[in-house]
Amino acid sequence: GTTLGAAAAESGRYFGTAVAAHKLGDSTYAGILNSEFNSVTPENEMKMDATEPNQGQFSYGSADQIVNHALSRGMKVRGHALAWHMQQPGWMQGMEGSSLRQAMLNHVTQVATHYKGKVVAWDVVNEAFADGSSGARRDSNLQRTGNDWIEAAFKAARAADPNAKLCYNDYNTDDWSHAKTQAVYKMVQDFKNRGVPIDCVGLQSHMNSGSPYPSNYRTTLSSFAALGVDVQITELDIQGASPTTYSNVVKDCLAVPRCNGVTVWGIRDSDSWRPNDTPLLWNGNGQKKSAYDAVLSAL
Ligand code: XIL
Repeated sequence: GTTLGAAAAESGRYFGTAVAAHKLGDSTYAGILNSEFNSVTPENEMKMDATEPNQGQFSYGSADQIVNHALSRGMKVRGHALAWHMQQPGWMQGMEGSSLRQAMLNHVTQVATHYKGKVVAWDVVNEAFADGSSGARRDSNLQRTGNDWIEAAFKAARAADPNAKLCYNDYNTDDWSHAKTQAVYKMVQDFKNRGVPIDCVGLQSHMNSGSPYPSNYRTTLSSFAALGVDVQITELDIQGASPTTYSNVVKDCLAVPRCNGVTVWGIRDSDSWRPNDTPLLWNGNGQKKSAYDAVLSAL
């Protein structure tokens, strides 16, 4: 293949990017998006604050713009994210208990229903585990509604869109020896054992000096896959964009049959949520970096 998407498709995978609706009119941005990628993830437009700015009042305009752009060009859409402790709308931030629990479940149901048949995979729950060595759940208003809030969200998503793949997504879960990785693994194992609907695990894979590419990354991918779920690299960016590290990440995914796609978290370095790290595959002028060539040849 001569593009990332086409090369990934040769092994039945996709290669995607995070997309911001307000950049679709930028011709350099849209040109790269349309030629190189066959999957998109709305960077912010499907988050809870964007889709339900007022309780019970849903707003899908900018997310729909991305979805229509993608589907009309034959690209897949990853939905991100139905339930998260961050980027909650103001009305939800102050909620607790059963009213929050009901509001969260209604949100999952409404948004998954709106995108039924359009989103191939949903990050149903994002970043529910704590950092550090505890392996514990993160404290959040959602977690305080009961330890079963995650499975309740997955069940609501399955009921709303039975054909979408349902993913748990998190960061700092690349290193197999990390307590957070093990804690997520145990949750997924428990869900599979008890028949809680879950189809995939997303590894965000934001890599930097504090959380570098681990030599056991392939073990992490294959261990999750062995539980009977797909594994997707969902938000890849690498501080400094080392071509070797990008190549290693892609080769590890290709070595694991159930690692079925990679998404980078933006197109140009200037599109990145951490632009000073220059972590992406194109520079601010829209020129391919050496990391791009490394990824294309690894695919
Ligand atoms: C980031 C976006 O890239 C930024 O534009 C926004 O200001 C904050 O969120 N983990 C996630 C993503 O799951 O949703 C985050 O995206 C990056 C970290």
